[in-house]
Amino acid sequence: MKVAVIGAGNVGAMVAGRIVDSGLADVILLDIVPGLAKGKALDISDARPVFSSTAEIAGSEDINDIRGVDVVVITAGLARKPGMSRSDLLARNAVVLKGISSSIKKHCISPIIIVVTNPLDVMTYLVMKTTGFDHRRVIGMAGVLDTARFINIASGVLSSLEGDNVFMMGSHGDSMVAIDRSKKLSGKDFKEFSDRTRGRGAEIVSYLKSGSAYFAPSAAVFYMLKSILKDEKKKMCCSVYLDGEYGEKDIYIGVPVVLGVSGVEGIVEAGLTPEEKAAFKRSTQGIRSVIDSLKIS
Ligand code: LAC
Repeated sequence: MKVAVIGAGNVGAMVAGRIVDSGLADVILLDIVPGLAKGKALDISDARPVFSSTAEIAGSEDINDIRGVDVVVITAGLARKPGMSRSDLLARNAVVLKGISSSIKKHCISPIIIVVTNPLDVMTYLVMKTTGFDHRRVIGMAGVLDTARFINIASGVLSSLEGDNVFMMGSHGDSMVAIDRSKKLSGKDFKEFSDRTRGRGAEIVSYLKSGSAYFAPSAAVFYMLKSILKDEKKKMCCSVYLDGEYGEKDIYIGVPVVLGVSGVEGIVEAGLTPEEKAAFKRSTQGIRSVIDSLKIS
């Protein structure tokens, strides 16, 4: 199996490193900045003896080198600076992702694509529309990250991505929707942890000053990749295309899904309370207004 990681910045390089360290797949790491992907690929490959990994990695500036890969992870584009919302990245990243989508379409027959670039839900929609690929094979990474953040913030009470029955749905933005079926949290704690989770990305950006989070985002991508490449069929929240599920059509938004070797193998209809339904609806409206402004549908 071979994975292309497009963008050798912090998230892309960290995703590539996690794949090679674990031996999950071979990697081609791509970046238009001369030397960046090659240098980082060499560095990552030097760690293979430490991890007893035989996975191959190469770096390249040439997008044509994605030819024949099974999965493409798109991390290219600008990251946030302090004070910026994920939507502020819209126009620049839309141009970058349109170009990348055309190249993927040219060189890969039916890859699975994981989009990481923000604003996440809209960029994933744009990649699906631009490539014209089956929407079950174009997936956005956000819910795993946001759910992991919630569980980490609630550590002491919650501990596991898989067992705790708490998850973050909706858009990867200020209107993300926390769902708690754990029966372990008080209403006050739930509200506090949800608010802190919503602000976590910006909190990290405010400390880093330049660039955004990458340890947990790359871990979330790795978790998705593993479920796909090893056909684990794990349930997790991802940004996926809705075609009637949750009463919505023609939108990408975070919901619980099953990920396996074919991509999105099922959308799980979590029974939502009227309050959760209303919050989810507000989240869809935010995403739709951005999609409309880009005129991609
Ligand atoms: C964050 C970026 C990845 O939430 O959107 O940190």
